[in-house]
Amino acid sequence: MNNSPDVHPPSVDNRTQHRKSLSLEDVRKDIGDCQRCPLGRVRTNLVFGEGNPKAEIVFVGEAPGRDEDIQGRPFVGRAGQLLTRIITAMGLKRQDVYICNILKCRPPGNRNPRPEEIITCEPFLIKQLQAINPKVICALGTFAAHTLLKTDVPITVLRGKFHTYHGRQLMPTYHPAFLLRNPAAKKQVWEDVQKIMKVLLPQASH
Ligand code: URA
Repeated sequence: MNNSPDVHPPSVDNRTQHRKSLSLEDVRKDIGDCQRCPLGRVRTNLVFGEGNPKAEIVFVGEAPGRDEDIQGRPFVGRAGQLLTRIITAMGLKRQDVYICNILKCRPPGNRNPRPEEIITCEPFLIKQLQAINPKVICALGTFAAHTLLKTDVPITVLRGKFHTYHGRQLMPTYHPAFLLRNPAAKKQVWEDVQKIMKVLLPQASH
């Protein structure tokens, strides 16, 4: 007869389940009225991100622009309207997906993010992605792709292929602002998002 009590040490899976990641609200509280880098003093609004906290896909851009800084919402200017059209063409709504940026505050005059700003802000993006736990991440443009993938391989080479990011699938593609200046590149973005759609809806034919 086996007299051992019916108690077992927790399996790795159980332990993983108990190690709860933060919720998006926790991450937002943690950022607070952020002044960790000098952009905090010059922003109008911090742009945390928005959308479905359980989204299967997260779009990650570069940094808020003027419209986003004023409204406190990501991708609401001209580039944002184009991103919304891309999301709609994928058969989704903005509320279905999650949209955020590498930087939460607008660099003055839309200058490029500085390395120290990225280093300061990136931990919050990592926690957002842990909280959402999406199937796919779509990195929009060079800064998002380079920051997430820790590479400086050109976006022209990175795009169109899935890369691994913390065990998740990441598809780099062109930034919608680039598409506004180079409409011919929309064809490639459409090819890239079709690959994403196959992962999100494997049974449908795209
Ligand atoms: N460009 C970005 O990268 N992010 C925004 O939120 C808006 C424009």
